[in-house]
Amino acid sequence: MTSTLVTDIGLLVTNSSEFGDLTDGAFVVDRGKISWIGKKDAAPQCDEQYSVAGRTVIPGFVDSHAHLIFTGDRAAEFEARMSGTHYSAGGISTTVAATRAASDEELQANCSRLVAELQASGITTFEIKSGYGLTVEDELRSLRIARDFTEEVTFLGAHVVPKEYADRRADYVDLVIGMIPEAAKFAKWIDVFCDRGAFTVAEAKQIMSAGIEHGLLPRMHANQLEAGEAVQLAVELDCASADHCTHLSDHDVQALAASNTVATLLPGAEFSTRAVYPDARRLIDAGVSIAIATDCNPGSSYTTSMPFCIAVAVREMGLSVREALEAATLGGARALRRDDVGHLGLGAKADFVELDAPSFIHLAYRPGVNLIYKTHRAEN
Ligand code: NIG
Ligand code: FE
Repeated sequence: MTSTLVTDIGLLVTNSSEFGDLTDGAFVVDRGKISWIGKKDAAPQCDEQYSVAGRTVIPGFVDSHAHLIFTGDRAAEFEARMSGTHYSAGGISTTVAATRAASDEELQANCSRLVAELQASGITTFEIKSGYGLTVEDELRSLRIARDFTEEVTFLGAHVVPKEYADRRADYVDLVIGMIPEAAKFAKWIDVFCDRGAFTVAEAKQIMSAGIEHGLLPRMHANQLEAGEAVQLAVELDCASADHCTHLSDHDVQALAASNTVATLLPGAEFSTRAVYPDARRLIDAGVSIAIATDCNPGSSYTTSMPFCIAVAVREMGLSVREALEAATLGGARALRRDDVGHLGLGAKADFVELDAPSFIHLAYRPGVNLIYKTHRAEN
């Protein structure tokens, strides 16, 4: 195995309290991990050198929330929304029908295309949820396909109650619970969309508890469409993450601040549903740990661009660029309970991004411009 000196780094953002930001920095990659960090003039001898020619280097983004197993799109639904129609969970059924009708190869190819887009936007670690199958067979094949792309696979059989179960919700809850033992062979996480038009708090509690009993780790879609008790449930269950958090009471904010649950904010969802943005400043000031993720899905947030999400979070959610960058790296890692990614400290995975810009500030300062020069993902 060879060691590589990554050098000539104009600005190196490590996200590590030990090293902070370095100008004229360098680091050594050994067996996929960072083994040395410092000024380039003090760098040790290595087998190979890789010059980044003065570019900015940041940790790879960690996308802790993405729905990538589906086919088709909902451009007409988006267009109608931009003309005044409100978003509702009901649109999910369009994608469920398309996904059920697709072959494994089609689902795999669409996911592969989206993963390539994620990586081109600087994302090096990503989560994938099921949730557009909603039958035993279609949920399990979604998880199986997702597992070929990432270890961060989430079982979201409880995305919505499918149409054929509309009059017998309890039967669908039982069906989802019955899928858990098989789902746990591919998935690490369990998630429920607990909101208006999806699952109630009582249903969510039943499903999440069954998942936890089978060894799945909890994360939850909470408080996207209305302020309910979902965030409280997420905290009670020690979820790694409560996702969306668009509508929060003071009580929710206090509960999150006192918990080990990350509030994952999804700027693409408010953007694409023309909704009011969550107040990230309020969360940070209260001591809540936050993440930013893409929520890539064909309905409410069809973006794979983390720089876009950062720019929107800075402009609309009250974050500084530094806070948004941290939320998209360290925050995402915390939302996946990972300490090996999201930073470039000693021992971290050597997942990093070269920016064609003199500073990370340009991620928000130059919205819509592709500044990702190269994404480097260490082999496991
Ligand atoms: O995270 N909120 C629930 N699920 C997705 C939307 C899925 C869809 O509209 O297809 C979300 O926004
Ligand atoms: Fe989502």
